[in-house]
Amino acid sequence: MSHLSQRPADAIVGESHHHESAFGHVTGTALYTDDLVGRLTGVLHAYPVQSTHAHARLGAVDTAPAYEVPGVVRVVTAADIPGVNDQGVKHDEPMLPTDEIMFYGQPIAWVLGEDLEAAKAGAAAVVVDAEPLPSLVTIADAIEAESFHGIQPVIDKGDVDGAFSDAAHVFEGEFEFSGQEHFYLETQVSLAQIDENGQIFIQCSTQHPTETQDIVSHVLGVPAHEVTVQCLRMGGGFGGKEMQPHGYAALAALGAKLTNRPVRVRLDRTLDITMTGKRHGFHSSWRIGFTEDGKILALDATLTADGGWSLDLSEPVLTRAMCHIDNAYWVPNIRVHGRIAKCNKTSQTAFRGFGGPQGMLVMEDILGRVAPQLGLSARELRRRNFYEAGQDTPYYQPVRHPERMGATWQQVIDSAELERREAEIADFNSRHDHVKRGIAITPVKFGISFNLTAFNQGGALVLVYKDGSVLITHGGTEMGQGLHMKMMQVAATTLGVPLSTVRLAPTRTDKVPNTSATAASSGSDLNGGAVKDACEQIIGRLVHVAAGLLGAPAHEVRIKRGVVSALSSKKTVTWEELVNAAYFQRIQLSASGFYRTEGLHWDLSTMRGEPFKYFAYGAAASEVEVNRFDGSYTLRRVDIVHDVGDSLSPLIDIGQIEGGFVQGAGWMTLEDLRWDDSDRPTRGRLATQAASTYKIPSFSEVPDVFNVSLLDMAHEEGAVYGSKAVGEPPLMLAFSVREALREAVAAFGEPGTPVELAAPSTPEAVYWAVESVRSPAGGERIDPMDRAADAEEAGGRGETPGVSGSSATEGETVGAAESADPDSGAQKGVTVPS
Ligand code: MTE
Ligand code: MOS
Repeated sequence: MSHLSQRPADAIVGESHHHESAFGHVTGTALYTDDLVGRLTGVLHAYPVQSTHAHARLGAVDTAPAYEVPGVVRVVTAADIPGVNDQGVKHDEPMLPTDEIMFYGQPIAWVLGEDLEAAKAGAAAVVVDAEPLPSLVTIADAIEAESFHGIQPVIDKGDVDGAFSDAAHVFEGEFEFSGQEHFYLETQVSLAQIDENGQIFIQCSTQHPTETQDIVSHVLGVPAHEVTVQCLRMGGGFGGKEMQPHGYAALAALGAKLTNRPVRVRLDRTLDITMTGKRHGFHSSWRIGFTEDGKILALDATLTADGGWSLDLSEPVLTRAMCHIDNAYWVPNIRVHGRIAKCNKTSQTAFRGFGGPQGMLVMEDILGRVAPQLGLSARELRRRNFYEAGQDTPYYQPVRHPERMGATWQQVIDSAELERREAEIADFNSRHDHVKRGIAITPVKFGISFNLTAFNQGGALVLVYKDGSVLITHGGTEMGQGLHMKMMQVAATTLGVPLSTVRLAPTRTDKVPNTSATAASSGSDLNGGAVKDACEQIIGRLVHVAAGLLGAPAHEVRIKRGVVSALSSKKTVTWEELVNAAYFQRIQLSASGFYRTEGLHWDLSTMRGEPFKYFAYGAAASEVEVNRFDGSYTLRRVDIVHDVGDSLSPLIDIGQIEGGFVQGAGWMTLEDLRWDDSDRPTRGRLATQAASTYKIPSFSEVPDVFNVSLLDMAHEEGAVYGSKAVGEPPLMLAFSVREALREAVAAFGEPGTPVELAAPSTPEAVYWAVESVRSPAGGERIDPMDRAADAEEAGGRGETPGVSGSSATEGETVGAAESADPDSGAQKGVTVPS
């Protein structure tokens, strides 16, 4: 058997192929779960009764009026649940509440109707008795009330206190930033049916079919073998379908059990956005020490993740955030405290990067803010602190191949002509008073593997039929990321057949059991390893058959693109002939494959180990132009060099890099989740409930010039065909957009003025940042009409943004600014010890 990462010459992995469903996507013929509803008869439609309180004591739920509504078939409440009333893995997440309502929009009961209108009318008729309780809505509310849940891990390495006393420069500050709505185009959907034997079949848009199966089996109180989950494809998951689908799948299955009819649960956009978890917003407070020449000596930080009402994946999201606060930089002495705010909101969950982006954002924000005070350009400060060979992370994992970070960085500088453009921009800025440009380059180092070692396993089933055609199934799910195409390329390469010989069947728990979520970007690593293993088992048998046919020793047999040959034989046979001969010799033509990532270990209690198989590296340079009158800006040009190892499928990888970057740029600049934290009855309601109020990037936000290339000579030893994961890391390349905005804002002030910028850096936030650098002492300002009213509402915090709100800081406050909106990511003072 060949080595996992060894790639044969002329392999099908490495070729550019479009996404396996590309034609279906663009012609509308690719089916999604909800398209299957029309193929069944008697389907019932479900609609929830949602809470209108952020927090309340739940009294009686009167379902009788719903039954008066024509077309209503069944109302499902907590009392109907035969098994465990819990939709999570932490057992803190009742699927339907029994006594306490935990967030505004929480489903309290579901109505099943002959059509959606009936279900909706029925839901409106249900009478819920609820007594409001005090609620915690913002992360600040939770911190003040000390409302936390789950673990409170600590990273502690080196002599942090000693290092601070040696530091030439010490800065401290706070930074709070927003979460992000997944806004997958296909909302949460499940369709459940029960066959004549009572077998439950659920088609579900889920990244984690096995866990969906587990939760359905717990809720129904039946063994796992009575439940089959299939995922055809998803119209995007982005982490939002790693845990969140389970409750809806369980509800569909329960409804099907109760009524003996198929049940469809599909959330419309507003239901989805108000009920499902999002990326965690974070609050951070930090203190950082540097040497005289700008090298990081010590970091002491506290990260508070905004977890929402239940834990969901908040614990692993938090630990990944803590393990990524270093990003690409060596921090010899470091202490990081982590905690999860419990408050009355949706339960926040996985989102592309899984906490990694939040940790890295804290560090990139710090470096962008303090660079001017160290007398360095942010670019130089970043490069000076890159990991070097022999150094290790805050969790003691040696950083292998840190030179690749430098390589991507230098390639971006060269290909983007960064130095020439920096000079051009300086010239442009000197000639324009009201419009300024900025350019910034930021690095990404992202750890690949699930932190929890056990999840790093994959499975596959490969069937070779008598005619030579191949059908593969693997444990991963397809959400647009191109995993299926990569798996077909791996199978074709390993078997030595043309790509057209391989077909892929949808992911199902009765084909490949006990799978991990398709998450942590590890879909190709894990399932690719398993597909390769299954194919190698089959080839291991076929070479002996081939040896007989060719009259040559088995070790000489080569199978390439469907042609079977051997060095010492003039004869060749086709793949089809070989397979047919094997069948008549009664050789098994199918295999199940398995893979586990070797060499990983992780101790959560000490936050130490080697949780990652390798790191993915990348660098991006972004250029923006900012208008000071309204804070509006454009993204003029982006250059990216990203390390995907030896790409399995370059076109798909480039698509992932472009898409990840744009999604990250949306989070950094446009997407602004607003929760009502007033004392009105709508307290706790998500105000941004639709595309009209929650702006995601579209074509117009794609940079005018967008150059993406893959790092050359990046073979990754020990990963499938030398490739690296690509799904999540490129999202963090978008930090370069925010840092470019910071550079442009800085150009409005005196040279060397540090800039604080809220996140998301919406035009409004950029406007206020420009105002604060133009008058750093909080002097004369041009305020919009509603400024005074805003300031009053915010308890005066908005009045003099120059120096306000820095209660946590002492010493000289430099250029501190607060966002005009106290809810959006606000920053507080950077201080320099006097
Ligand atoms: N790309 C598309 N088009 N749609 C998605 O939902 N999810 C991302 C990323 N790329 C996603 C995507 C996330 S969060 C992850 S973890 C990976 O894909 C998962 O797939 P992989 O492990 O096969 O890369
Ligand atoms: Mo991705 S956030 O790991 O599903």
